[in-house]
Amino acid sequence: MQITQADFDLFKQLIHDLIGIALSDDKKYLIEGRLAHLLKKYELSTWKELYTLLRANSTQSQVAKEELIVAITTNETSFFRDIHPFKNIEKYVFPELVQNFLERRKSPRDKIKIWCAACSTGQEPYSLAILLKDFVERNKFKYPTLQYEDFSILGTDISSGVLQKCNSGQFSEIEFGRGLEEKYKKNFVHMPDEKIWKIDDKIKSILTFKMVNLINSVQHLGSFDFILCRNVFIYFNETTKKQILEQFAKMLPPKGYLLLGSSEGIARLSDQFVPERFDTTIIYRKINPAE
Ligand SMILES: C[S@@+](CC[C@H](N)C(=O)[O-])C[C@H]1O[C@@H](n2cnc3c(N)ncnc32)[C@H](O)[C@@H]1O
Repeated sequence: MQITQADFDLFKQLIHDLIGIALSDDKKYLIEGRLAHLLKKYELSTWKELYTLLRANSTQSQVAKEELIVAITTNETSFFRDIHPFKNIEKYVFPELVQNFLERRKSPRDKIKIWCAACSTGQEPYSLAILLKDFVERNKFKYPTLQYEDFSILGTDISSGVLQKCNSGQFSEIEFGRGLEEKYKKNFVHMPDEKIWKIDDKIKSILTFKMVNLINSVQHLGSFDFILCRNVFIYFNETTKKQILEQFAKMLPPKGYLLLGSSEGIARLSDQFVPERFDTTIIYRKINPAE
C-alpha cells in the first residue's frame, strides 16, 4: 500500500526518535516495502493506524517497535569486511594494545577490551576474535604470558533478530563463503546436514553480545581500549553522530582507538579524535590531553 507524504513524515520522525536513523525523502519505498507485513499482522488498514500503534505505550506497541527495528535496519555485513582494516589492525593496533596491556596489567582478571558497536549478525566481532587467536598463537615467543582469554569482545546491535544469530555463532554456507580466507576456516565446525558452519567454542568464549541502542546512554557498558563502529554512521545525522562520538570519547583512554567505516569521516564532528593513517586504513585516536 502506498504511503502519503504526510504519513511518511510521521514515520520518518518516529524512526529517527527510536533509532536515530535519518531517512531521506526518496526512502518512501522502504516503509512501503519493509513495513507492509505489520499492517497485515496487526490487521490495520492505514499507515496512520500503524503509526498510532507504534507510538502507543503498550506491550503490543513494544513488540511492534521491535519488529519495526528488525524490518527497517540494514544488516549487511560479512567476515573480514573490506579486509584492509583487519590487516592493519593485526599489524599495528594489536601489538600496541598488547604492549600497553602487559605494562599495565595488575590482576589476572584484567582484559584488553574491544567493543564492536552495531555488529549486525556478528561476522565483524567473530572476524576480530579469529584474528586475535591467530595473533596470540603466532606471537607466543614474543609475548609468552599473553593468552587469548586476555581479550574480551563485546558485540552490540539494536536489532533483536541479529543478536539471536550472533549468540548462535552459526552461519549459512553463503555467509561462510563471503570473506573468510582459507586459513581461518579451521575455526568453524561444518554441520553438513543443517548446511551451517558453527564457530568453534574456544573462539566464542571471549565474546558477549548485548542489545544496545547507540542513541541512548551507553556508558554503563564501561571502558574499552578499542571501539569499532562501522557502516552505521552513514544512517545518522550530524547531531546524532556528535552525541555518539562524545560518548565514545568518554569510554576510551587517551590514545584509544576508534575505527569507523571507510566512508565515514568525522572531521568537524568531534575535537576528541584525530585520524591516523595505518597503511591504507584510517583509524581515529582519542586525543591525549597530556601531549
Ligand atoms: C550495515 S550494518 C553494519 C554491520 C557491521 N558493523 C559491518 O560493518 O559489517 C549496520 C547495523 O547497525 C545497526 N543499527 C542501526 N541503528 C542502530 C542504533 N541506533 N544503535 C545500534 N545499532 C544500530 C543495524 O541493526 C545494523 O545491524
